[in-house]
Amino acid sequence: SSVLRSVKTLAKPAGARGYSSESVPDRKVAVLGAAGGIGQPLALLMKLNPLVSRLALYDIANTPGVAADVGHINTRSEVAGYMGNDQLGQALEDSDVVIIPAGVPRKPGMTRDDLFNINAGIVKDLCSAIAKYCPNAIVNMISNPVNSTVPIAAEVFKKAGTYNEKKLFGVTTLDVVRAKTFYAGKANVNVAEVNVPVVGGHAGITILPLFSQATPKANLADEDIKALTKRTQDGGTEVVEAKAGKGSATLSMAYAGAIFADACLKGLNGVPDVVECSFVQSTVTELPFFASKRAWKN
Ligand code: NAI
Repeated sequence: SSVLRSVKTLAKPAGARGYSSESVPDRKVAVLGAAGGIGQPLALLMKLNPLVSRLALYDIANTPGVAADVGHINTRSEVAGYMGNDQLGQALEDSDVVIIPAGVPRKPGMTRDDLFNINAGIVKDLCSAIAKYCPNAIVNMISNPVNSTVPIAAEVFKKAGTYNEKKLFGVTTLDVVRAKTFYAGKANVNVAEVNVPVVGGHAGITILPLFSQATPKANLADEDIKALTKRTQDGGTEVVEAKAGKGSATLSMAYAGAIFADACLKGLNGVPDVVECSFVQSTVTELPFFASKRAWKN
């Protein structure tokens, strides 16, 4: 693909292992919460990504099975499973990108804020370990409530003296994925060509899909835009209710997480013009964190 070609041209020639193209750099990706509903399909999708040379799968339980299973797939990356706090350091060491889908998901009737008490503690501990074992890694925060877990991560990194605002991302890609799908359906355009920026935050009405900026342009009525906006904002709840107590979005979230991590890897490898929406430290509004389009700058 053209993306791989540009990675080859820009990347440093040394260091590729076990991969036909000598010029694709080694990149280690760690998934924390890898045995979960999101973690397992995300591990699969990251195993399929040719930009990854090492894939570390960490969870408090069940990672040996996931790692053995995914590890049999004949793609570039070497897979290793790590289980329990004692192995967290090894899982994180030398990571370029750390993806965090660890923690409890919503059940019907819960808001993302209801997850705060449990997930805040999990995220704090994992981020303390990141600060210690891979302080330069890019962090992709999936654990909810993203509107709170990202600021928590920032505080942990500040305290450890490792905070780099350019390397901490709240993953809001699923909002973008949903907005694209719903817009394409309503506007009757090819979904593969659709772009919709989604700004704000990652909970209910803080999710702001900008259908006025969607491409390809379509002349949708105001009430259609209103309905699309509401469906995008309530997309997570739609899945939570359909799963009826068995959790929240996992497969579409894994897809979205894989897209976002791939963008981070491309950015790291020097691919130009990598732009994604993400919940980041921001000066766009008076809020300290805000999701908006973010172009990668090394
Ligand atoms: P799940 O319960 O299926 O999996 C969570 C995994 O995290 C489990 O395997 C569990 O053992 C593990 N875990 C718990 N404590 C841990 C720790 N200290 N270290 C490492 N792993 C730990 O949950 P699911 O469905 O995978 O969701 C995970 C998180 O992602 C939830 O917080 C959920 O709300 C969030 N989420 C975020 C979305 C987004 O758009 N950003 C969309 C959907 C879910």
